[in-house]
Amino acid sequence: MLAAVITPRVRLRPEIEALSPYRQGQPAAADAFKLSSNENPFEPLPAVLTAIADVSLNINRYPDASAAVLRGALAERYGVSPGEVLVGAGSVALLAQLITAAASAGDEVIYSWRSFEAYPGLVTVAGATSVQVPNTVDHRHDLPAMITAITERTRVIIVCSPNNPTGTVVTLDEFEAFMAGIPPTVLVLLDEAYIEFVTDPSAVRGIPLLGHYPNLVVLRTFSKAYGLAGLRVGYAIGPDYLMNAAQATAIPLAVIASAQTAALVSLGHDAELMQRVSRITLLRDQLWQALVDQGWNVPKPSGNFIWLPTGSSTEHAAEVFREAGIIVRALGDGIRVSVGEPSSVDKLLGASGEVIRNLRTA
Ligand SMILES: Cc1ncc(COP(=O)(O)O)c(C=O)c1O
Repeated sequence: MLAAVITPRVRLRPEIEALSPYRQGQPAAADAFKLSSNENPFEPLPAVLTAIADVSLNINRYPDASAAVLRGALAERYGVSPGEVLVGAGSVALLAQLITAAASAGDEVIYSWRSFEAYPGLVTVAGATSVQVPNTVDHRHDLPAMITAITERTRVIIVCSPNNPTGTVVTLDEFEAFMAGIPPTVLVLLDEAYIEFVTDPSAVRGIPLLGHYPNLVVLRTFSKAYGLAGLRVGYAIGPDYLMNAAQATAIPLAVIASAQTAALVSLGHDAELMQRVSRITLLRDQLWQALVDQGWNVPKPSGNFIWLPTGSSTEHAAEVFREAGIIVRALGDGIRVSVGEPSSVDKLLGASGEVIRNLRTA
């Protein structure tokens, strides 16, 4: 009998072997609505499609690694210098770069939980340790508890406003009180992926605050309000030396030329795009009201999505939505549903009505 041959396995980092890859919102069948990834339901602008077609004539060439033209346009728009702007392959890449620049083995990264699904993995990949501070009962960041969680190992704190998936915002007053309690050596990342959908006047907006807090970096994306999720482009604004450090941790040349160009063209069509955003926020507010009328206790949404706290019935509830032709995101103790096509509303509310009836009788 042949002796069994044991092939030795390559030694991997144990925390990476234990890590599940980022789980994307489920795709939808042809007749279903994909409301699982907080995407923009509008089709790309014709001007963007034309610009991408032109750029694609040069795909034998590498893109500009520094995204200088786009950084220049963003710098001008926000009244900062180009050195204070960093462009990345989506804001998720910038989050990874900034966390990696500031935190490694033995260091801690604090963030609210539940929040953006990618945060835990990004921290683990950097080699650092996540410190998750539970949201308040009304699904908001518990900023005082996040301050209490700071130790001498804390290197980064992430604040997500509006928070994905709960949709709640941090107010300006809350943010200022919070920043007063943060050591200036700790990097604060304000993740504003959904800021363009915010209509609440009390909500924090990070860019005007940058001059006050030298440890603050604001992250934004072209994926949501600007409808360029498929091209992968986002930006960070903060002090030069932090942008340089984050650039040093980037995978070189990750922001392709068509992404840079599409973002630039989109900035030039801001008014049209923000009209689309207004239509989405109007529909969001109508949907929220309809859900409240159905009896849901849903936090007031400030992004392009709504959080349904379904607790232990989450998987079953997601199935009810799926059967109704609505693909949602089931996240442990709740369901996140994106505000999509107006034609999705009847199906969505039909399913949410059934779910709340089931929850009441459960
Ligand atoms: C809170 C938050 N931050 C960042 C991102 C990353 O967006 P992107 O990498 O597409 O710019 C997302 C995407 O869903 C998000 O929800």
